[in-house]
Amino acid sequence: MNILTTLTETISAKFVERGYEASYGTVTVSSRPDLCHYQCNGALPAAKAYRKNPLVIAGEVAELLQGDARFSSIETAPPGFINLRLSDQYLAALAGDMAADERLLLPLMERKTIVVDYGGPNVAKPLHVGHLRSAIIGDALYRLARFLGHTVIGDIHMGDWGLQMGLVIAEMEGRGADAAAVSLDDLNEIYPAASARSKTDAAFAEKAAARTAALQHGDGDIRAVWKQIRDVSVSGLKRGYGALGVTFDRWYGESDAEPYVPRVKDILRERGLLRESDGALVVDVALPEDKEPMPPMLVEKSNGADVYGTTDLGTLLQRKEEFDPDEVWYVTDNRQAFHFRQVFRCAKLSGMLNSGEKEIQCLHFPFGTMNGKDGKPYKTRDGGVMRLSDLIGSVVENALRKVNESDVPMSGEERREAARMLGMAALRIGDMQNHRTKDYIFDMERFLASEGKTGPYLQYTAVRIRSVLAKARAAEIAAGEILPPATDAERDLLLSFPLVSDALLRAFADKAPSAVCDVLFDIAGRFNRFYFEHKILQCPDESLRASRLALLELTDRFLTILLELLGVEIPSHM
Ligand code: ARG
Repeated sequence: MNILTTLTETISAKFVERGYEASYGTVTVSSRPDLCHYQCNGALPAAKAYRKNPLVIAGEVAELLQGDARFSSIETAPPGFINLRLSDQYLAALAGDMAADERLLLPLMERKTIVVDYGGPNVAKPLHVGHLRSAIIGDALYRLARFLGHTVIGDIHMGDWGLQMGLVIAEMEGRGADAAAVSLDDLNEIYPAASARSKTDAAFAEKAAARTAALQHGDGDIRAVWKQIRDVSVSGLKRGYGALGVTFDRWYGESDAEPYVPRVKDILRERGLLRESDGALVVDVALPEDKEPMPPMLVEKSNGADVYGTTDLGTLLQRKEEFDPDEVWYVTDNRQAFHFRQVFRCAKLSGMLNSGEKEIQCLHFPFGTMNGKDGKPYKTRDGGVMRLSDLIGSVVENALRKVNESDVPMSGEERREAARMLGMAALRIGDMQNHRTKDYIFDMERFLASEGKTGPYLQYTAVRIRSVLAKARAAEIAAGEILPPATDAERDLLLSFPLVSDALLRAFADKAPSAVCDVLFDIAGRFNRFYFEHKILQCPDESLRASRLALLELTDRFLTILLELLGVEIPSHM
C-alpha cells in the first residue's frame, strides 16, 4: 500500500463527485512540511480547464473531505492548494499496519524479467577504481528490482574477447611463458607491460592484433592459452567482487556471445542491413529525426575481426534465447552512451528484439566519474591508475583506525570485521548518495565520518537501535501497540515511514539508488532526534514505553531493508 496512491484515490473521488476529472486529485508529499504533510495542487489546472476560481474548486473538494478521520486538518490556501495533515490516530494505525506486515506494506510491482548487465571488468587486467561505480550501482539496482518483485538476472559481462587478450597472449609468447603456470600476479604485471609495448613497438602491436583475430576465428592452441589466462583472471575477479560484496548470477563474458555472432550477421544480412564500406561491414543506424550525426555502426572490420558492438549484439541474442527478458539494463559510465545507442538501434532494426507480443527494451543507465580532490578522475599519488584492491585496502585500514578508537569491548577479529563493513558502507554510500549521473569527489575522511551523510552514520544509527532492543530483551521488556504520537519528534518519525514506498518506486523509475539513500537519511535523522529527546527503556509509563520500543523495532526493520537494498551491512557492534 502506497499512501500517495491511497490519498490520491480519496481526493480524486471527491473531484469526480464535484464534477471534475479524477486526474486532478493527485496528492504529493508536502513541499512545506511546516504547513502540512501532504498536498494536492490539482485545483490549479482544473481551474483553467473549467474556467473557475481555483480556490473555489479547492474549497469544494476540501469540504467533502471534512470528517475523514485520517486527517487532522484539511485546509485550502491561495491560489488553490489543498493542504492535508494526517491525524495522530491514523499515523499510529498506519505504523501498526506496517509492523504487522512482513514487507512493511512496501510495494510489489507487476513482475517483469530483467537482465542487469553490470560490473563489466576486462579479463587479464586488474580491477581499478573505474570499476567501482558499475559494481555498486548495478548491485543496488539489481537488489531493488528483486525487492519490488521482478525476476532479475545479474550478468557481469566480462570483456574476455578483445585486444587485451591478444596483447597478453603475444607478450607471453615473447617471454616464452608457460600459460599453465601463469599466476594472477604475473597477469597483473604482463598486461600493463604488453599494453605499453604495443604503443611503441609496431611489430608487437601487429602480432597482438593477429593473436586476437586467431582467437576469434577459433584457433585451438590460442584458445587453450586464452582459457588458462581467463580462468586465472576470473578467480581474481571473483575475489575482487567478493570483497565488495557484489554478486552476479551469471559470469558470462563476451566470449559466450561468440556462437551467436554468425547468426546476428545472418539476421542483419537477411534484413538487407549489412553494407560494405571500405572492406568493412557496417549498418546504417541514423534516423531522420537525429539532431546530431549518427555514423553507421561497425559490425566487422576489414580484417574480418568483430568489434565491441558485434559482441553486444550477439549477447543480446543470447539473452533473448536464454532468458526472454522484458528489459535489459546496461550500467556503465556515460562515455559508453554512444556505443549503446548504436547497438540498441541496430538490434531494433534487425527485429531481434521482437519476442512474441513484446519487444525487449534495452536501456542504458549511465553514471558519472569518481574524481579526486583535483576534480579529475581518481588516481594514485603518482598519477597512475589506482587498483580497486588498493582503494578498498586503504579505506578499510582507515576504518579500522576509527573502530580502534571505540571503547566498545570487541575482539581483534570483531574489530576487523566491523572495519570491513564500515569501509564498504563508506564507499557505497559515498557513491550512491549522489545521483548516479553526477560526478563526485572521493573524500575518504568525509565518507568515513560518523556524522553527516555517510554510511557509518547510518550504521551507527542501526547499531544504536539494536543495542536498545537487546537491552529490552535482556530486561524482558516487550514492545507493544504503537500509540498516537505524543511529541513532535515522535510524529516526525511516524511520518517518515509512509515515505519509503514512494521513494522505492521513484528510485526504480529513475534507476537512482540516491532516492533510497535520501529516505534512509531522512528516517535516521528523525530517529536520532527522537532518540535523544525521549526516554525509552527508562520511560515510566508502561504502555508508552512499549509503544516506543515498537517504534524502535519498526525503525530497525525499515533501516535493515533499506540498507540491504544498498548492499550495506550492519555490524553487530561498533
Ligand atoms: N567491458 C566493458 C568495458 O570495460 C564494459 C562492458 C559493459 N557491458 C556491455 N554489455 N557492453 O568498458
